[in-house]
Amino acid sequence: MEIRSDFLVIGSGIAGLTYALKASQLGTVAIVTKREKTETSTGHAQGGIASVIGKDDTFDLHIQDTLACGDGLCHEDVVEMVVRDAPIRIQELVSLGVNFDPGKNNAYDLTYEGGHSRRRIVHVQDFTGREIEHILIAKAEANENITIYEHHMAIDLITYSRLLKRGATTIGKEESCCGAYVLDTRNNVVHTFLSKITVLATGGAGKVYLYTSNPDIATGDGIAMGYRIGAPVANMEFVQFHPTCLYHPHAKNFLISETLRGEGGRLIDKNGKTFMEKYHPMKDLAFRDIVARAIDAELKTSGDDCVFLDISHRNAEFIKKRFPNVYRKCLSLGIDITKEPIPVVPAAHYMCGGVLTDIFGRTKIGGLYAIGETACTGLHGANRLASNSLLEGLVFANQAYLKSAQEIKERKQTPYPDVPIWDIGGTTETIESVMVSHNWDVIRRLMWNYVGIVRNDRRLNLAQHRIQNIQDEISEYYWDYRITGDFVELRNISTVAGLIINCALIRKESRGLHFNVDYPQKDDIAWRKDTIIERN
Ligand code: FAD
Ligand code: SIN
Repeated sequence: MEIRSDFLVIGSGIAGLTYALKASQLGTVAIVTKREKTETSTGHAQGGIASVIGKDDTFDLHIQDTLACGDGLCHEDVVEMVVRDAPIRIQELVSLGVNFDPGKNNAYDLTYEGGHSRRRIVHVQDFTGREIEHILIAKAEANENITIYEHHMAIDLITYSRLLKRGATTIGKEESCCGAYVLDTRNNVVHTFLSKITVLATGGAGKVYLYTSNPDIATGDGIAMGYRIGAPVANMEFVQFHPTCLYHPHAKNFLISETLRGEGGRLIDKNGKTFMEKYHPMKDLAFRDIVARAIDAELKTSGDDCVFLDISHRNAEFIKKRFPNVYRKCLSLGIDITKEPIPVVPAAHYMCGGVLTDIFGRTKIGGLYAIGETACTGLHGANRLASNSLLEGLVFANQAYLKSAQEIKERKQTPYPDVPIWDIGGTTETIESVMVSHNWDVIRRLMWNYVGIVRNDRRLNLAQHRIQNIQDEISEYYWDYRITGDFVELRNISTVAGLIINCALIRKESRGLHFNVDYPQKDDIAWRKDTIIERN
């Protein structure tokens, strides 16, 4: 089937939905989303959104905190734009119906997280993302210009140069995107989605690592698809590990929000001893890279499986009211956080790198935008300040909308190109599941063990060699089998893993989230620059 719309948005998280709602004023919008529509990182966000709201806060302070966390690599113009735009975007969410918790001294209750010099995070208890996601979905569903296609996984973007290779007749003047091939995973059919403007809003890539806070959708598809068609990708070495994910055999990817530490929670070892004072004057509220490395060092020294986060000294009623999500989850596993410490370990959480964009979310490819976690906009630099991510999604959805409003007029003049249907080349056989699951496991373990919180060149080189072999194997058999969702994701995580390793090998210093023991110092003369990779 061929589906035409003015805008194709790939992803239904905060970035994709916010963009879609705005773009619906300009034309028709198709949103494709690869699982249930609310299955997003956005829906799992706990802490909140950073914005200057407090009476004691200023834009300059939020800018300084973001720059300090980014460790010399943030783009200052982008940081300034985002920070100044934040209160407007928060008000937009409020006008859509998001009920942030009210405060005593300010309009909203403001919480703390690592690296913030002021209380500035608005939240809805500890399920901020779920509230936002449901409201945005409800608005999108009620909008007659928007159609949401659930269980539709984008496989590859369609570009004019590919059409030329396939003998199509209508060719654009520039290297430009005109939609995507999308797999309906429930019916196993590939549809052609054509659009005048295409937006990658596919979120992060935590699933590249064995242990992650991310939901299963986070396989870096947007980054891999963008890279395949020649969009430059940047700063992939900066993978953020969240210091505190729940350590329990029956807990899959459950985060213990940093806001617990913001409200007085302390990290302790199995003997109840605090340790963060050894590592940084800001102790438990130091930047995430510092806290994650501190826990890594403690675990390597002690040989223990986890450390603990203790908030039990706070009033039990306060804990239950402020952190109902964490309280209930832990209780369901037999841990009463009002009485006992929570076992925690670091896990892959956020991808600071991604498809390189300008300040409007435009990629190098005509008609293709990237917004949200899949993009590298220059906001986060070498490390993301807590709760600046939902914010980035909101602000860049708006930036992209503003630019699309200009661009769409011209693009609407150009007819949709003739695009061949997805070519299965006579292949009817489905790949054996074990071939996919085995390579998934190999990649994720390799990344965790060789390309984790603390790196060295030897392990990075070995990882590069092994990933190359896996990529070669996948390319060899990719076209021999019928496409499946797992197979598409495997190909993407292998691409993203390769990009992370290559960027990590290029950067010969340690900065922000990238720590290489062979180059333990920061080198501002040689390396104060983005790591940019582009496919030839
Ligand atoms: P997502 O919300 O992840 O949405 C991606 C969408 O793309 C999904 O709908 C997915 O199905 C779809 N998709 C992916 N690939 C394809 C494909 N091939 N075809 C079709 N659809 C596809 N940040 C904060 O600022 N504050 C917080 O408190 C916070 N807490 C967090 C807690 C957790 C547990 C996690 C995991 C992250 C948290 N973050 C937080 C980070 C933040 O939630 C994410 O960075 C942000 O939500 C990303 O939004 P997004 O719209 O870019 O992507
Ligand atoms: C958290 O609540 O700890 C996550 C916040 C974030 O990733 O910004």
